[in-house]
Amino acid sequence: MSLLDAATKARENAYAPYSRFKVGAALRTPSGNVYVGVNAENVAYPEGTCAEAGAIAAMCAGGDYKIAELLVISDSPTPVTPCGGCRQKIAEFAGPDVAVTMVNLQGVTSVVTVADLLPGSFNAGHMANVDANGV
Ligand code: THU
Repeated sequence: MSLLDAATKARENAYAPYSRFKVGAALRTPSGNVYVGVNAENVAYPEGTCAEAGAIAAMCAGGDYKIAELLVISDSPTPVTPCGGCRQKIAEFAGPDVAVTMVNLQGVTSVVTVADLLPGSFNAGHMANVDANGV
């Protein structure tokens, strides 16, 4: 199944009663496994989670930890871009050259790399001075 088909189908099940903005995400691992996610909102608004986060959690639950490509779809005038937090979440599991495809329901598509989505990302190297005791 294509990432577009998988994300489009999943998106219909998004739980977005507060924003009414349904988002679907699908990712493929290097081994070819596909995982999907949707946004799952909450009456305590900040507790809602994004579609990308859901797909990443599903991937981990499936025992996969590497993203080869990712697609996100919503009913937006221009292709939806992952929020800042999701950019960091994607970067945890995807190399800088991994393609992130953003598409709306009309098929308007934009493709960017992870490096372009999150330049200067925080990474483990920034914590190099922390010693074994964590101080
Ligand atoms: N949302 C996503 O799921 N992914 C994105 O890339 C952008 C925003 C969700 C969060 C919230 O449920 C709704 O869209 C409106 O912000």
